[in-house]
Amino acid sequence: MSVTFASEFPKRTQRSKALFERAKLTIPGGAGSTARMPRNGWNPYPLFMEQGQGSRITDVDGNEYVDYLLGLGPGILGHRNPTVTDAVVRAIQEHGTSFGLPYELEIEASEKVVAAVPGVEQVRFANSGSEAVGQAVRLARATTGRRLIVRFEGLYHGWQDSVYWSNHVDLDRAGPADRPRPVAMGLGVPAELGDTLIVLTWNDFDSFSALMRERGEEIAAVITEPAVLNTGCILPEPGYLELLRSETEKAGAMLIFDEVITGFRIARGGAHEYYGVIPDLTTYAKGIGGGFPVAAIGGTKEAMRLIADGTYSHSGTYNANVVQCAAVSATMDLLAEPGLYERQRALGERLATGLEGIANDNGIDAYVTGLGTVFQLWFADGPVKNWRDAVAQTREGEFTRWYEEMVVRGVLFHPLQFENLFVSLVHDDRDIDDTLNAAADSMKVLASEFGRK
Ligand SMILES: Cc1ncc(COP(=O)(O)O)c(C=O)c1O
Repeated sequence: MSVTFASEFPKRTQRSKALFERAKLTIPGGAGSTARMPRNGWNPYPLFMEQGQGSRITDVDGNEYVDYLLGLGPGILGHRNPTVTDAVVRAIQEHGTSFGLPYELEIEASEKVVAAVPGVEQVRFANSGSEAVGQAVRLARATTGRRLIVRFEGLYHGWQDSVYWSNHVDLDRAGPADRPRPVAMGLGVPAELGDTLIVLTWNDFDSFSALMRERGEEIAAVITEPAVLNTGCILPEPGYLELLRSETEKAGAMLIFDEVITGFRIARGGAHEYYGVIPDLTTYAKGIGGGFPVAAIGGTKEAMRLIADGTYSHSGTYNANVVQCAAVSATMDLLAEPGLYERQRALGERLATGLEGIANDNGIDAYVTGLGTVFQLWFADGPVKNWRDAVAQTREGEFTRWYEEMVVRGVLFHPLQFENLFVSLVHDDRDIDDTLNAAADSMKVLASEFGRK
């Protein structure tokens, strides 16, 4: 209890602080991604990491954490899974790294992905989620000969100009909930691309149905995360994904599931298996490579037809390189272990309900929404069904205070309420016990600051 963030963090993280000062000299902002900068939650400076092993990660000052950040999601098998690491090293030693030509391991990796996911008949590998999404959106336009893309507020689909809109949008600029206005999320995104987008409120059946009635024939694709993991963890209302599927089908528009987070995480077959809704195209990254950098676009043969006949160019020097395909192939083998997902979902649920109970017992109004191996503890006054609810209901500062009190007790997750906690397929009961013990202490600190009096 005597431990608190204000007193402990500076003492425990001297070397991270020094490295951040050094990094700022040669790396803009001192970090390799804007998402790792203090302005994105990592205050007063990001932790610099030394090494990760399984469910644990150690920083440069020697502090060990139970890791629920997991590299922002790729670590579905924890850090440095020995089987995947060996497969990658062996493949490089036996084959090389990239050829600019096809090779057999690439077929093996694609066959295993196709076998794992109900609605994927063909797959092309790529390098990042943003890249895969950019390609899927353009492919949908090429296939349908239409221009308009429908996306939803609060979801993130990467940084491509075509979709980098209305993620965590300022509601003063966003228009009414039943017809939001597209708002570019970054400097440099051409404003005129807003005319190629329609932005809607997620989980709102009426606005989606009305749009499809009025403009369905103009729409190339509807892109969505099957559950919104880029605003905490928001689950689809029953029937919502089915509505997206049936209305797009009726209108001749494509449905794209962005499964960069959910893919291979919420089930081996991702949302296809978990929700039983099959889109035309699906984008993957993060989990698919068991921690290695790889992404993919999967689809039905019909949806991939223009790539197959070469009239649509999906190209890339590093597409399907040896590192990627060895990682995917080995990861797919590990994910096929019977009972793995059921076991880890139960473990994640034990953690999630445990955290919720500890918060409530300490007089903190908080609740969990989740999919087992990914969830969020909402410090919120009411239910969250979309971005606008998230803004209205959450007490973001309390969440970040909770993160602070957890990180100095050896538990790492993202400092922001609108991110989430990832449980890997190698976390175990000891991890959960350690986390719940840390939560019991940290929630007492929070109770003294925010608890019901
Ligand atoms: C759902 C979703 N789509 C796309 C992306 C972009 O992926 P990447 O960061 O690999 O470009 C992300 C990244 O967090 C994501 O969560």
